[in-house]
Amino acid sequence: MQELIVRPRRLRFHPRLRDAVAQARLDPRLFVMPHFVLPRPDAVEEIDAMPGIRREGIERLLATVEQDLELGIRSVLLFGVPGEEEPKFPDGRSAYAEDALIPAAVRALKQRFGDELVVMTDVCLCAYTDHGHCGVIEGGRVANDPSLAHLARMAVAHAAAGADVVAPSDMMDGRVLAIRDALDEAGLVDTPIMSYSVKYASAYYGPFREAAHSAPQFGDRKSYQMDPRNGREAILEAQLDVEEGADILMVKPGLAYLDVLAVLKEHFTQPVAVYNVSGEYSMVKAAAERGWIDERLVTLENLHAFRRAGADLIITYHARQVLAEKWL
Ligand code: PBG
Ligand code: ZN
Repeated sequence: MQELIVRPRRLRFHPRLRDAVAQARLDPRLFVMPHFVLPRPDAVEEIDAMPGIRREGIERLLATVEQDLELGIRSVLLFGVPGEEEPKFPDGRSAYAEDALIPAAVRALKQRFGDELVVMTDVCLCAYTDHGHCGVIEGGRVANDPSLAHLARMAVAHAAAGADVVAPSDMMDGRVLAIRDALDEAGLVDTPIMSYSVKYASAYYGPFREAAHSAPQFGDRKSYQMDPRNGREAILEAQLDVEEGADILMVKPGLAYLDVLAVLKEHFTQPVAVYNVSGEYSMVKAAAERGWIDERLVTLENLHAFRRAGADLIITYHARQVLAEKWL
C-alpha cells in the first residue's frame, strides 16, 4: 500500500493560487496615518529617528493630506506639537484652550475635505504639560481622578471642532467614561471613542517622544501604562473600556503584542485597532538603510501579521510609502 503524503505545498506553487487562498489581506481603507501638527502654518520639520515622517504646520498638513487621500489614505490621527517657546502648564491647559492647535487643525481639515476624510485626534496631556506626564501631578505622582476633567475637556474641544473620532491615550482609569459623559453633555453623542485600551509602558515609543516633545521630565510612565509582562490584564482593560463606552479598542505597540491583539479580537465584538508605533517603524527604516533587510518585504510581513492577528484598523507610519510605491 502506498503511503499517503499530505501535501500543503500544493497550494504554494502557483503564485495566483497562493494569492487566491491567502488569508490576511491589506486594504488602504484600514490604514490610519499619524500626523504631528506644528503651530506655525507653513512650518515643516524632519524627525531624525523617523525618516519620511515630518512635523507640519496646518497649511503643509492640508497639502500632505490631500496627496495622501489621492493614494487612498482616508484616515488620519493627529498629535499636537506645541511650539518650544509656548509656555506649558502643569495641567496641560493649552490642550483645550480657545485657540488650541488640534481643534484648529481639525477645523481646517474638515472644512477642506469634509467626509472624504476621517479625522481622529489623540487625547492626552503629555505634549502640553510642563512635566511631560499624561495626567496631572499631585504629591509627586500622576494623579488619576484629577486628570479626568482635563482629558474630558480636551476631547470635547476636539469633537466640537469636528473630530470624527477621539482617541484617549493617557491610560488613566475611568477616562473613557469621563470623556463619554462630557461628550454627551456637550451634545456630541455621535462622536465615537477609540480607546488606547491596551497600552504598554514600551521603549518602542522613543522616537515618538522626540517627535512630539512629550518625554516625561521625571520618572517614567509605568504607574499608568501597562507592564509588558502582563497579558491577561489586557482583557480587564478592554472590558472596562467597553463598559465605559469605548467604540473601538486599540492595542499598542503592535509587533511585540500580537498575542494580545489576537486575544482582544477573540473576546470582543468591537473593532480592534493596532498601533504600529514609532520604534517599530524606526527599526525597519534603520535596518533597511543599512541594507540589512528588504524594506518592502519586511514592512508587508509586519502589516500582514497585524491582519492575521485580527487588526481591523492599522495605525502606521508606513501607510504613505506602502501606497505611494504600490507595494500592495
Ligand atoms: C501619548 C502617546 C504616545 C504615543 C502615542 N500617544 C507616547 C507615550 O505614551 O509615551 C506613542 C506613539 C508612537 O510611538 O508612535 N500618550
Ligand atoms: Zn500621553
